[in-house]
Amino acid sequence: MSGFPSFAYHNARFCVESVPLDRIAEEFGTPCYVYSRAALTAAYQEFDSAFAGRDHLVCYAVKANSNLAILNLFARLGSGFDIVSGGELQRVLSAGGDPQKIVFSGVGKRPDEMRAALNAGILCFNVESEAELITLNQIAAEIGKIAPVSLRVNPDVDAKTHPYISTGLKENKFGIPFDEAEKLYLSIQQFPNVHATGLDCHIGSQLTELDPFIEACGKILDLLNRLEAQGLQIEHLDLGGGLGIRYSTEKPPSARDYIAALCGGIGRRSQRILIEPGRALVGNAGLLLTRVEYLKHTPYRDFAIVDAAMNDLIRPALYDAYHEILPVIANGNDVKTYQIVGPVCETGDFLGHDRKLALSQGDLLAVMSAGAYGMSMSSNYNTRPRAAEVMVDGDNIHLIRERESVEQLIAAERILP
Ligand code: LLP
Repeated sequence: MSGFPSFAYHNARFCVESVPLDRIAEEFGTPCYVYSRAALTAAYQEFDSAFAGRDHLVCYAVKANSNLAILNLFARLGSGFDIVSGGELQRVLSAGGDPQKIVFSGVGKRPDEMRAALNAGILCFNVESEAELITLNQIAAEIGKIAPVSLRVNPDVDAKTHPYISTGLKENKFGIPFDEAEKLYLSIQQFPNVHATGLDCHIGSQLTELDPFIEACGKILDLLNRLEAQGLQIEHLDLGGGLGIRYSTEKPPSARDYIAALCGGIGRRSQRILIEPGRALVGNAGLLLTRVEYLKHTPYRDFAIVDAAMNDLIRPALYDAYHEILPVIANGNDVKTYQIVGPVCETGDFLGHDRKLALSQGDLLAVMSAGAYGMSMSSNYNTRPRAAEVMVDGDNIHLIRERESVEQLIAAERILP
């Protein structure tokens, strides 16, 4: 179960803070994403306070969950943001985020996205190739701005995570090869509309050990020493995101230990430290609430067909990811081993395999640890309107995204004359 006390059974009813989930299902329907304001706040504060007075900025990785209410909550707590598109920039600005706390990552920034970020006055562009540097310089010159940049360096470190979400190996598409970074930094002086202010890396996601972070940090510091020896002044180190969470039996380091390890490695240097956590801030602060539509018992397997599907939460289908699935009303009778599947026409449409549960038609289930890369990776496959999202705050329930309607889904489409 999640590491947060905001999710717990009270008298055999599963509650988020003070609100029983069956009440949410009744009021807002299913499938529905449910987040806890207290859990989000606690996760942010654990990161922020771990820096213990050291100059730092936590830049929440918006891609993990980009709902405006969540962005606004983090902005109010003082958070910065790591964005990867013009769309995410617009979301952060609409949610009241401070442009001076935004870093812009990603391998394929378009000129119009660069322009929008320059006009907003963001803190830094994390540049991933020489070609991108050339384009950024050109766009900045056109509008008379100087673009602050970090080079995202690929330190060639094995993050020991799922291959789809490992980004810091030399064969990955991300970052500038470690051996080329120094040369490219020194060439930045030739670009009059670009100014090197930082040094950046990000090695992957859902890391459950500290060693790869420490190794990457060591390499980045070596590079920093060489750059400083040649007269470059680097104001901040951005060490990316990637801290894992507990989905089942993993034992990831705490935010406190992770940051202590980074700060320990960096020692007494003067640079401001940036980090870009996504999953660790929101993953265990949200769940996906779903209802059992049908039970289907075949001679081979027992299926629970639920109303949430791979379009709502694609992580099991895409990464074979495990999400704990808990009954909303605890009920110990007639436990069977169920395949928890959705209504989408694909065998890959499952939320969990071989789950021991006592189920009846109409029961509610909570798919745990779904706050990160759940709603933000959802789609309309099978013309399924996307789920509603609610945030619980004590005994209040706030609807933070209405359930989509089919009318909204087809509104932008046109038939031939
Ligand atoms: N910074 C950069 C440059 C990133 O590419 C990412 C994630 C992060 C920060 C945040 O990483 P986090 O702290 O959330 O691990 N959809 C996958 C995860 C993809 C992560 C992509 N990059 C999943 O559901 O597991």
